[in-house]
Amino acid sequence: MSRPLVTAARSTALSSLPADLDPGRLPAHVAVIMDGNGRWARQRGLPRVMGHRQGVEALKSTLRLCSDWGIATLTAYAFSTENWSRPGEEVSFLMTLFEGVLARELEGLEREDVRIRFLGDLTALPAGLQSLIEDATARTASNAGIRFNVCTNYGSRHELVEVARELARRVQRGELDPEAIDEAAFASALQTAGESDPDLLIRTSGEFRLSNFLLWQLAYAELHITDVLWPDFDAVALATALGDFQRRQRRFGGVLS
Ligand code: IPE
Ligand code: IPE
Ligand code: MG
Repeated sequence: MSRPLVTAARSTALSSLPADLDPGRLPAHVAVIMDGNGRWARQRGLPRVMGHRQGVEALKSTLRLCSDWGIATLTAYAFSTENWSRPGEEVSFLMTLFEGVLARELEGLEREDVRIRFLGDLTALPAGLQSLIEDATARTASNAGIRFNVCTNYGSRHELVEVARELARRVQRGELDPEAIDEAAFASALQTAGESDPDLLIRTSGEFRLSNFLLWQLAYAELHITDVLWPDFDAVALATALGDFQRRQRRFGGVLS
């Protein structure tokens, strides 16, 4: 039996920030490419889908830790536009898993003040999942706790092409002067409009690539790649990533004074 994501009377106490981390220098926005579920399962002689099941547990605990530790936004890559190329059985397992988790966890998310949103082309998702997403988004929209973005059928190139189309339509209608398209105008047409850019990107399972994730938004993110497979990602792994982040010097193209 899986525990609710977050509950009013929580079964676990609020987790406090590890003492070696500086609460004043945490990333406001953490993005994560949750990779390695399949390998986690294979190492145990289990079918790949069992890795996805366990990956949900890792996501639940990461959300709780980020919320407890004072991180304002968590954005997680759950399913890419390229992931449709996987065997049909795995894709349908994932869609069913997403539906089940969302249905089961929604009440807890509401109670814990999480504001959940889904980024990606949601129109291609099964109808049942789409309506759960609509419901969850609406019911948590005015929550003031952690902002939790789940990228589902998300692809950065698709997102950027959509922005280009939308801006071109506005120009064609005479509503927008092409010269008025600047970085801020462009960013406000992205699905992440209104969110700060991620400060820290974590990718698990030791892969050094972005896999079409938030190409615009990650322009100045600090990257933390860990060999930990996503289902094993825990408080120690998160604290390690945050510690790594706190040792970086962010220069944004400038020089240190
Ligand atoms: C990430 O784990 C989950 C999704 C992409 C949905 P993978 O399924 O990619 O696991 P590996 O990379 O095959 O180990
Ligand atoms: C990226 O992982 C997508 C998600 C985590 C949802 P993949 O496993 O699909 O990426 P590649 O194929 O290794 O680049
Ligand atoms: Mg993978």
